[in-house]
Amino acid sequence: MTRPALLRSVVTGTGSALPVRRVSNAELAEQVDTTDAWIVERTGIRFRHIAGDGETTATLAADASRAALAAAGIDATEIDLIVLATATPDQTFPSSATKVQALLGIPDCVAFDVAAVCSGFLYAVQVADSMLRTGIHKRALVIGAETFSRILDWEDRATCVLFGDGAGAIVLEGQQSDDRPTARGILATRLHADGRHNDLLYVDGGPSTTGTVGKLRMKGREVFRHAVVNLAAVLEETLELAGLTSADVDWVVPHQANSRILDATARKLGLPAEKVVVTVDQHANTSAASVPLALDVAVRDGRIKPGQLVVLEAMGGGFTWGAAVLRY
Ligand code: COA
Repeated sequence: MTRPALLRSVVTGTGSALPVRRVSNAELAEQVDTTDAWIVERTGIRFRHIAGDGETTATLAADASRAALAAAGIDATEIDLIVLATATPDQTFPSSATKVQALLGIPDCVAFDVAAVCSGFLYAVQVADSMLRTGIHKRALVIGAETFSRILDWEDRATCVLFGDGAGAIVLEGQQSDDRPTARGILATRLHADGRHNDLLYVDGGPSTTGTVGKLRMKGREVFRHAVVNLAAVLEETLELAGLTSADVDWVVPHQANSRILDATARKLGLPAEKVVVTVDQHANTSAASVPLALDVAVRDGRIKPGQLVVLEAMGGGFTWGAAVLRY
């Protein structure tokens, strides 16, 4: 039987970038009333990278993109679409995506930012995948990049210990494929939003309200509760869309907010901990950057191999949440 031809978005390269400065829990404990033991026990976090002078969301995004382009073996000028997920853009406008375009020397392409906070990369993946599958765009840079250190209240120990800065990027290319689940590329994506939960995780400022950038505020315990339920549900939903089950999964690359959320979600799905890529200990929560950063780490250290089934998932402010199933 001949299979119907269709376009799929295939990951052809991954890359990531971190600020130079790496900060340990012990160093943080010199500034706020906390301990290494509390942070490790409650979150699994040991280190985070903090952007210094000259390091911004766009410069980190451009560095991650250069690494992804090199891995894909293509020149920046072959990119015709940039979708950048961030909640910490360099400027309110123009988009950081256009800044990345300029930094990479791409004379013309479509470039825009997506705002869905910690699930921003999943939103960006679905947007880019939809655009590539029309055939109008051929090769996309899909990026998650953040400098959350600049919107943290460094006197609030309940939040400032949880976040870090960084960027991750993938090159996504539209390729002729078929409907076999063994085909490479994105097999299914699913996104959700529930705007009733604004007050559980938000920034207390913005251009149209206070005219300031604002600082991050979070009711951690309630966010935790929603995260485990939503993430397990959307993972099952997305696997079902792809005609697969958790038994087919080789790797889960989750949003890296808290190791206890990762453990609880994996347990709910009956997935062994060895299949979950964990980088939260090294990077803390880098919001939209965390999934592509973790993906790049696991590709480069040889864990994720071509042909394997990889599931990406994230949940963040809004709330927003989502998942993607892809064959690497
Ligand atoms: N160091 C030491 N003590 C701290 C602390 C810190 N950095 N931060 C908070 N505490 C204290 C609190 O003041 C509280 O003390 P109290 O009992 O005397 O009032 C105690 O620790 C417990 O605080 P609580 O917030 O209930 O802890 P928790 O077990 O819920 O853990 C989080 C806090 C933030 C680690 C946890 O709720 C969490 O990870 N939530 C989800 C966050 C998340 O994933 N956000 C991003 C989603 S994108």
